[in-house]
Amino acid sequence: LTAHVTLDPAFRLAPVHRRTFGTFVEHLGRCVYTGLYEPGHPTADEDGFRRDVLELTRELGVTTARYPGGNFVSGYRWEDGIGPREHRPRRLDLAWHSTETNEFGLDEFVRWTRKAELEPMMAVNLGTRGIAEAVDLLEYCTIGSGTHLSDLRVANGAKEPYDIRMWCLGNEMDGHWQIGHKDAREYGRLAAATARAMRMLDPGLELVACGSSASSMPTFGAWEATVLEETYDVVDFVSCHAYYEEHDGDLAGFLASAVDMDHFIDSVVATADSVGARLKSTKKINISFDEWNVWYLSRYQNAEPPRDWPVAPRLLEDHYHLADAVTLGGLLISLLRHSDRVTSACLAQLVNVIAPIMTEPGGRAWRQTTFHPFAQASRHAAGDVLRVEVASPTHETERYGEVATLDAVATHDGESTTLFAVNRSVDRPLTLTADLRALGPVRIAEATVLSGPDPYARNTADAPDTVRPRRNDEARLDGGALELTLPPVSWNVIRLT
Ligand code: AHR
Repeated sequence: LTAHVTLDPAFRLAPVHRRTFGTFVEHLGRCVYTGLYEPGHPTADEDGFRRDVLELTRELGVTTARYPGGNFVSGYRWEDGIGPREHRPRRLDLAWHSTETNEFGLDEFVRWTRKAELEPMMAVNLGTRGIAEAVDLLEYCTIGSGTHLSDLRVANGAKEPYDIRMWCLGNEMDGHWQIGHKDAREYGRLAAATARAMRMLDPGLELVACGSSASSMPTFGAWEATVLEETYDVVDFVSCHAYYEEHDGDLAGFLASAVDMDHFIDSVVATADSVGARLKSTKKINISFDEWNVWYLSRYQNAEPPRDWPVAPRLLEDHYHLADAVTLGGLLISLLRHSDRVTSACLAQLVNVIAPIMTEPGGRAWRQTTFHPFAQASRHAAGDVLRVEVASPTHETERYGEVATLDAVATHDGESTTLFAVNRSVDRPLTLTADLRALGPVRIAEATVLSGPDPYARNTADAPDTVRPRRNDEARLDGGALELTLPPVSWNVIRLT
């Protein structure tokens, strides 16, 4: 099999947005407790934050963190998580059938983001709460001092206000599982009213309206149209959420999950633009793809929720294999390829819960297979995203029919060009040639491949490096052409300088 791409810096699509490499920290399972926060842990710092997790978070290269949920936010009272710990209430978390101790809250989260060197992104509760609580939270965060809530923040130890720019207006309000689930008109009106009030306090906020929880939702498309009719002038983003898993042994279909993500993004862009056209607006609504990942959701859906309201139970702790990591690489390619409209995204989630970083309570932290494509893309995607002309053979999948075997995107920052490529074939190597003449004289700075004989090979706490990128010494340049072989089920990164 042979595929061909042409890389030309003149074919610039959009800048690489650093926020594409965001993540998500929800009060769910062990993401917070015994994940990033564990006071008794040998690596814990003075705030109880695990230094081993902080280091891996920085290595992962995440740029933003969405907080505190997810489904959790729709029942959350943010005031429970501030002030002296001994006064913080224990509450039932209805979304995940757990007990929330509130030992970790907003002030801890912001302190943690500073140590992790990333931008906080907040979600407000539009499930059980509304405009007043959202504005209160904003006042607590962003006013210097001199009001009840800003003075409370100062008294809680944070003299300087929190510069939080991005705010999600609720979470997955289209989902019947969401506490306070609403229909599109009802949610759209509440989101618009909340956005208007929040903008009275700070007109420069970047606000995200909830889009669909998946492209398979029965209301997909209609939901976005109605919500944006209500909110178009007062929001900047509409969200997309998508999780992928292998269904019924269709590995080829799973590896091509980016086909769905492409369709999802294109449909939401078209819907948003059609609302804009009807409103005679020149404004464009961008996409915040603020939950995406591989998640074996069907296994979770069939499981019983915890019975006894445990604190930080092991929930949604998927152990990822090589094919999951390659699929995730394909999803990153899809996000980058849509950088003209997807300007923010969050890998859901960061630690333990469907996460690239795993921890053992009291023990080590380690990298799942999916850590690697994300870290490489965050580190090496720079400058502009290029439109890459891909000429690829195709193959059949059960889920998506005929798909291109090669998926690829490239970025270029004047000094270096990076090609990210996935071979979606389950069993056939792919010879890739790339026409580089427009780049001028270049050399291969590094070529790596994430692949292996077993697509279901995993990393574990005891063997954390079983699946990791290795050098691909076969990549070579000949005149203005690059040639290399992409093994089946592989994620490849080629850096040219
Ligand atoms: O990320 C796990 C859950 O997935 C989130 O809480 C929810 O928003 C989505 O359904």
